[in-house]
Amino acid sequence: MVIYLSGELGAGKTTLVRGLLRALGVRARVKSPTYTLVEPYVVSKLYLYHFDFYRFSRSDEWAEAGFRDYFNRDAVCLVEWPEKAGGQLPAPDLRIVMNVNESSRSITVDADTEAGQDCLARLTP
Ligand SMILES: Nc1ncnc2c1ncn2[C@@H]1O[C@H](COP(=O)(O)OP(=O)(O)OP(=O)(O)O)[C@@H](O)[C@H]1O
Ligand SMILES: [Mg+2]
Repeated sequence: MVIYLSGELGAGKTTLVRGLLRALGVRARVKSPTYTLVEPYVVSKLYLYHFDFYRFSRSDEWAEAGFRDYFNRDAVCLVEWPEKAGGQLPAPDLRIVMNVNESSRSITVDADTEAGQDCLARLTP
């Protein structure tokens, strides 16, 4: 599963991932991957990789960094700043966009694949 998280600096992308990991039972510190680029988590048989590509400046840096193997069928990849990774980043199952306005916040979730739709169907009553 590949989940893109978009939104300006400080929109709440890392906070959302932290909440998701806490809900899955992860007790370890959930750090922003701004400097490490990726933070891995294992929950039962599930591998979750939290990426932040904000620091990428060239579109081929993602491929050079060797992250392709992380995007496999046993993994959930949560990606902050996917737009910085260039066109070779695998397409998302879910696209989450967070917006901060003067007095309110909003979030949009779109499913691009059947797996993504299945995920959304489980969320909505
Ligand atoms: N829904 C929310 N309401 C109020 N404050 C929030 C909310 N979500 C996040 N914050 C606060 O905003 C700050 C930035 O959040 P966060 O680090 O999650 O942003 P980000 O989108 O990951 O930013 P970056 O692009 O720099 O990685 C934090 O101090 C966090 O506590
Ligand atoms: Mg962040």
